[in-house]
Formats: sequence, C-alpha cells, structure tokens
Amino acid sequence: MQFLQNISLDASTSLKMPATAAWYCEASSVEDVQEAAVFARDKDIDVLVLGGGSNLVLGSDVPGLVLANRVAGCEINTDQSVLGAGENWHDFVSKAVRKEIGGFENLALIPGNAGAAPMQNIGAYGVELRDRFISLQAVNLSNGELVTFDPDACQFGYRDSLFKQSRDWCITSITLHPSNELRLEYPGIRSYLDQHQLEPSHENIFRAVCDVRKSKLPDSASHPNAGSFFKNPIVSLHRGEEFSRRHPGAPAYIDSQGVKLSAAWLIDQAGLKGLREGEFSVSDQHALVIVRDGARGMAKQQGSSFEQLNRLIQRIKDKVLELFGVELEVEPTIYPD
Ligand code: EPU
Repeated sequence: MQFLQNISLDASTSLKMPATAAWYCEASSVEDVQEAAVFARDKDIDVLVLGGGSNLVLGSDVPGLVLANRVAGCEINTDQSVLGAGENWHDFVSKAVRKEIGGFENLALIPGNAGAAPMQNIGAYGVELRDRFISLQAVNLSNGELVTFDPDACQFGYRDSLFKQSRDWCITSITLHPSNELRLEYPGIRSYLDQHQLEPSHENIFRAVCDVRKSKLPDSASHPNAGSFFKNPIVSLHRGEEFSRRHPGAPAYIDSQGVKLSAAWLIDQAGLKGLREGEFSVSDQHALVIVRDGARGMAKQQGSSFEQLNRLIQRIKDKVLELFGVELEVEPTIYPD
C-alpha cells in the first residue's frame, strides 16, 4: 500500500470542505489497515478514518494520516450478510432487496459506506442499524489488533456508538441479519403505499423510502450537505409534556429516554430556513440540512469556510434555545473536535 503526501480532501466529503491530508492511504484489506496503524505509530501521527465522507465535516487540514477505508466484500445470505467496511451502503440494500432478503429496505439511500453504518447507528423510517446487527470487526489503531465486537460492546445509542466517540478503531467488516418484519408505521411510508396502491412488501417499502427521501432531502451532488445536521433532541417526560401543551401541533414521540422532539420542526418554526452565513445556508427543502452552495467568493470577506459554518450553527442553536428552550446537538462528526 502506498502512503502519499499532501493530498487534497476537497472532494472526499459530501459537504466538500476544503482540506489537505499530510499523509493519505487507501486500505483495501485488514492487512492494509494494520499496515497503516504501524505506519502512523512509527511516525507518531494520528489516524483519521475516511469512509464515504457523508457524515464528516472537515474544519481544517489533517496533520496526520487519512486512511480511506476501501475494505471490500459483500456476501448476502438468508441467514446473515457480511460486508466490507468500504462497500457502499445503498448498493448493499439494493442488492439485498433484489435477492428478496428483507430488513434493510427502510435504510435505503442513506449515503455513506457500510463501515459508517454502525459508527453512527444509522436509522430511518422506523429502523436502526442496531436492530439488524450481529457483530463487527475492527482494527485497534494503536496496536493493529483485529477485534470482534458484539452489539453490547458497540454501545449503540441514537446516532451514536463507541466508534463515534473514539478514534482508536477502524471498522473493517460488519455482519447483519435479515428480518421479515415490514416496518410501515412511519407516516410517509404508509401514505406512499396507499397513494400508489402498493401492497406492503420489502420491495415496495424500498421504493417508497427511495422516493420519499429523494423528494424530501437535497441531493448532495448538486447541493453539498452532510444529511441531518442536528440530532432530534430528547427531553424529559415532564419537559416534553410541557412542550406539547405549548405547541400542540409539534411532532413529539415518546422514546426510551424521554420525549424526542423534531429538530427540523423547531428550526423551521423559528423561521430559519434559508438562513445564510457565507457559503452555507439552512436548506429551503428540509430544515435539518445545511447546504454549502453559496458563492465561493464570499469566503474571503467572511472568514474561512469553517468559521462561516460555525457561525451558522451557533445562530441556529441560539435561536432555537431562545424560542423553545431546547438545546440542539450537531449530528455529523466535526474534525477537529
Ligand atoms: N419538518 C419540518 N420542516 C422541515 C422538515 C421537516 O417541520 O423542513 C417536520 C416534519 O413535518 C416532520 C418532522 O419535522 O413532522 C420530522 O421530519 P422528517 O420526517 O423529515 O425526519 P427528521 O426527524 O427530520 C430523521 C432522521 C433522518 C431520517 C428521517 C426519516 C435524525 C437526525 N434524522 O429526520 O436521518 O432519514 O428521520 O426516518 O434522526 C440522517 O441522520 O442524516 C438522516 C437523514
């Protein structure tokens, strides 16, 4: 495997933040990942693992080694599926649906690679990765050891896991199980099936999720973005009840940890759609998405891209806190943190 110097990362993330990697390598096997771990240890530099780049905000150049995770492999079977971390997530979901293997269709069109799926415990339309998870393998970047993790060891939470909290690991493969259950309760999915007179099935849910996502979320090819930019805030039962009394029409769902409110609704109601700081703005299409589509020339007058983004994040957080008393938390990984 080659270790390259001063490589541009401008096109490596879906938000397309400008950044350079001091060192860069592309790992296509567990052995490559282990070699990268040794290289970084010998040079005494940190490793930043890069997957599909759809949930990563690069706020600066990376002084260490960027390890592009390209570990391949896609075995889809009726009892379990094993995916290399560098496989595209949606390609896997599409192949599973074609093979009539159910359980993943609600997670269609989630951008990014398989390795990132457990990292942020991806979820959509009533299903989370942890619902289909058996185990994963990851290399400990401090000593090169390959370790198998069961669900408990992954410490899954809402858009969270051990691997989101710690940079010590590079996930190399994940093992998932299918499911025959049809998850339809998300309102947009059921109404899509009714409208198109489709029977509930894995394939039709896949169609519904793909169409609903395409209509709701801005396409990162034309409007660079990092998906949902804020987590849906979870407040105590007491505060949730009080919130619902004050805002009777607002979405609020009882969750195992309290009441989950809708960050998109809060941002939208605060009138922040279209709010702009330099190159960045709150999407007019979906309030939870920040798009980087402004004129690049504005960057010089208003600080670096990252400064503009941070100003926008702060303005959104401040306004939502002022109007609703709710603190928003950023969802993607921000580098450096
Ligand atoms: N809404 C608004 N204004 C908007 C957009 C939405 O008021 O501009 C309201 C909607 O009317 C709805 C509520 O907000 O009542 C929720 O919106 P939506 O159904 O689009 O889902 P979300 O809560 O914004 C979450 C996930 C998405 C996932 C969808 C579908 C998080 C942070 N986001 O979004 O995941 O696809 O549910 O299950 O949990 C991601 O994590 O990157 C992501 C896209």
